[in-house]
Amino acid sequence: MAYYIGIDLGTSAVKLLLTDETGRIAGSVTKEYPLSFPHPGWSEQSPADWWEAVSSGIRELLTGQDAAAVRGIGCGGQMHGLVALDENDAVIRPAILWNDGRTAAEVDYLNNEIGRDRLSACTANIAFAGFTAPKILWLRKNEPENFRRIAKIMLPKDYINYMLTGVHCCDYSDASGMLLLDVAHKRWSKEMLELCAITEAQMPRLFESYEAAGEVKPEVAAALGLPAGVKVVAGAGDNAAAAVGTGTVGEGACNISLGTSGTIFISSERFGVDPNNALHSFAHADGNYHLMGCMLSAASCNKWFCDEILKTSDYAGEQLGIGAEQLGNNHVFFLPYLMGERSPINDTDARGTFTGLSMDSTRADMLQAVLEGVAFAIRDSFEVAKGLGITIDSSKLCGGGARSPLWRTILANVLNITLELPQTEEGPGYGGAMLAMVGCGEYGSVAECAAALVKVTASVAPDPALAERYEARYQQFRRIYPALKNLFPMLK
Ligand code: XUL
Repeated sequence: MAYYIGIDLGTSAVKLLLTDETGRIAGSVTKEYPLSFPHPGWSEQSPADWWEAVSSGIRELLTGQDAAAVRGIGCGGQMHGLVALDENDAVIRPAILWNDGRTAAEVDYLNNEIGRDRLSACTANIAFAGFTAPKILWLRKNEPENFRRIAKIMLPKDYINYMLTGVHCCDYSDASGMLLLDVAHKRWSKEMLELCAITEAQMPRLFESYEAAGEVKPEVAAALGLPAGVKVVAGAGDNAAAAVGTGTVGEGACNISLGTSGTIFISSERFGVDPNNALHSFAHADGNYHLMGCMLSAASCNKWFCDEILKTSDYAGEQLGIGAEQLGNNHVFFLPYLMGERSPINDTDARGTFTGLSMDSTRADMLQAVLEGVAFAIRDSFEVAKGLGITIDSSKLCGGGARSPLWRTILANVLNITLELPQTEEGPGYGGAMLAMVGCGEYGSVAECAAALVKVTASVAPDPALAERYEARYQQFRRIYPALKNLFPMLK
């Protein structure tokens, strides 16, 4: 028997899984860390907090287990975050995260002065505020002293891999979200690096997600309770890792994640670009490609509404107030743009709103509107995919929001597709462990590993009458943002 550690380096916490080569989960540990919003719309985290959580988490995960059996580690991490190291590999400033909206001016410069066509030709994507290249430009302009000190740029999970192995590495799926990778050819784009005034020497070495980037350093292994020679694969962006963990590999498979962000991920054996670049065109962790729509606030809308507004931590209990007969009949609507929005509207100024309230609106109606607003916003990206001729009849579902039976029903009916629930909804961590298994030779490919390990244990099919009611509600929802769009910049 061999053990593999899968790491999901998320925005609110890191989740670590210990699995054997058959995918049986022998243990799991979650460690939270703070997230700071130094200005409205900004979002930062300390890489030292990530490492403290990962290292103490690994020690805890291995307590009482046969630690000598650990052979590999794979990490799926929050994407796009800018981690900058100096010449001594010390972190220069807090990481600027994927949901940070400070780069509106840089995005405007990239998309409108450099031009969307040129960006898309170089990288297969256009600029979005959370992507890494606009953040580099922001740093250059606003913190020139920090910019001058940069010796290495990397993404959040790459920092963990660096701390484990001492290797500056990145994988193609995560690198795709930097707007610095020529995704079609899987190499750094010289033109984009030049435009950001950085050199290839400042970039990490590129690997496929399932390739071993190095081994855990002996002193780190000793401190964490790991045996000698544990391989660390390059890992993946959390969405690609989640897709692996839910078996979303090969042509046309779909995964939806209801985590802090909400994503719809369509895997493909061929490289392809959305001509309007509303969906991201990224490399996949299985060695192929995918298209993805990402909304910035998904399960986090529910968390915000319950924690901050309703002042309850009983999310499931709160949903009991929403009766089945109310589904598709809600007059209250919620725009889920609490951090601005990425896909498909690309608007850092957009904000959350409740609309349609009346004297008889209830607490339950508002909560329902929050859950529905997230589902409608996922549908916006789903519509873009349909517009590209992609047919999606069913999708896997993962992420914290997938645990709510009510939310699953709403989403299945808003999209009018069947949602399949894998045995483990710990997508990125499980996917990370699977990538490590492939890197250690347990399986010949990611597809082979997914076929052997991923089991669907439940599914939710849409109900035709409810799907019809939700179709009418969605048509109303989609008119709200265009009506408010021009007001948002004034609300800052
Ligand atoms: C994807 C994205 C988010 C983060 C969440 O483009 O920005 O899904 O990866 O961790």
